[in-house]
Amino acid sequence: MSKAGKDSLLGNKIAAGVLTAGLVLWGANRIAHIVISDEAPHKAAIQIAALPSAAPAAAAPAGPESVLPLLASADIAKGEAFMQQQCSSCHTFTNGGANGVGPNLYGVLGAPMFAHAGFSYSAAVKAKAKGSWDFDKMNQWLFAPNDFAPGTGMSYAGITNTQARANVIAYLRTLSTRPLPLPTADEIKAASAAATPAAAPAAPAPAAAPVASLGTLLAKADPAKGQALFQEQCAACHTITKGGANGAGPNLYGVVAANAFSTPGYTFSAAVKSKAGQPWTAATLDAWLKNPMGYAPGTYMAYPGIKNDQTRADMIAYLNQNSPTPAKLP
Ligand code: HEC
Ligand code: HEC
Repeated sequence: MSKAGKDSLLGNKIAAGVLTAGLVLWGANRIAHIVISDEAPHKAAIQIAALPSAAPAAAAPAGPESVLPLLASADIAKGEAFMQQQCSSCHTFTNGGANGVGPNLYGVLGAPMFAHAGFSYSAAVKAKAKGSWDFDKMNQWLFAPNDFAPGTGMSYAGITNTQARANVIAYLRTLSTRPLPLPTADEIKAASAAATPAAAPAAPAPAAAPVASLGTLLAKADPAKGQALFQEQCAACHTITKGGANGAGPNLYGVVAANAFSTPGYTFSAAVKSKAGQPWTAATLDAWLKNPMGYAPGTYMAYPGIKNDQTRADMIAYLNQNSPTPAKLP
């Protein structure tokens, strides 16, 4: 914490990252246990929010589909089960329940946004706190928390499945002495009308910008840019010098081409075990750094990922420099 405090260049994102890192260390076992152990039954319902790749600038970011038409018939029991599995490591749901990694969620729908008593919210969400939570705002938040409030302390990729979001919101609605009224037929109509024009342009195939291959991106990668980003976004959790200490994350010296998730003296989460032991390649590192929680759901690496393809290549080039025997990258 003090580290982030001293460095005025670190943005909210990093402050949140550091905060999360501390919290993750503190509650790691619980989180891993709950999130991972119950994964199987809901596999289909849980989709990690797709990260837009370096898409043509013209493409509007995909927003969530409205849940309004689904709320009245949503499956509250499924919403509850989903939240037990995916949210309860960080949130309690009962009236008067304690704040944990995240705030208690009883009565959150209809309540002022990001204002639960006794919880200190990140600056990222404070900037987005306008009015009270309604169904639409909750839909957007749960679809992609880090798009809704970039740098939020809620390290959760989001719920991309619209029915699953509707089920969760329907359950959240019941956590109240005075549940918000369900949307009226007119409100539902307005929501679907608003969605129609947006859906239309999807028909013509979006002008496909040629996607540069990883090899091409690595060939023109700039390790100095990777280094700058490392200092800003990774150094809070990782050292990269030879013999550097493990911190919230493992020391990364020589990580490229080393066996994944095998750094001696560091205890990795169960989430990465199935990916451990194989040597890291440029391609697997690229996938990991793009979306750690998509690559290994439940990983302790509370970092949303580097979305820009070239920036990831810059980072891989920088990681590769910090090695006794840099790998030959494609
Ligand atoms: C890894 C921990 C974590 C997980 C998992 C998590 N949350 Fe959160 N949640 C947080 C944190 C931390 C905040 C506060 C955000 C901030 O300060 O940036 C938050 C905030 C919220 C808020 C806003 C509360 C308010 O007071 O306005 C809602 C709603 C919410 N989470 C719902 C959920 C739901 C639903 C799930 C599961 C689908 C979930 N969260 C999973 C940590 C988590
Ligand atoms: C909030 C802390 C945090 C931040 C920020 C973070 N990491 Fe990590 N990182 C971790 C943790 C924790 C792990 C171990 C994952 C596990 O056990 O689930 C990890 C694992 C890794 C690994 C795999 C290491 C191995 O031994 O195979 C790489 C590579 C990595 N991180 C790179 C990065 C890069 C590059 C950045 C910045 C763009 C970054 N991390 C940002 C915490 C963090």
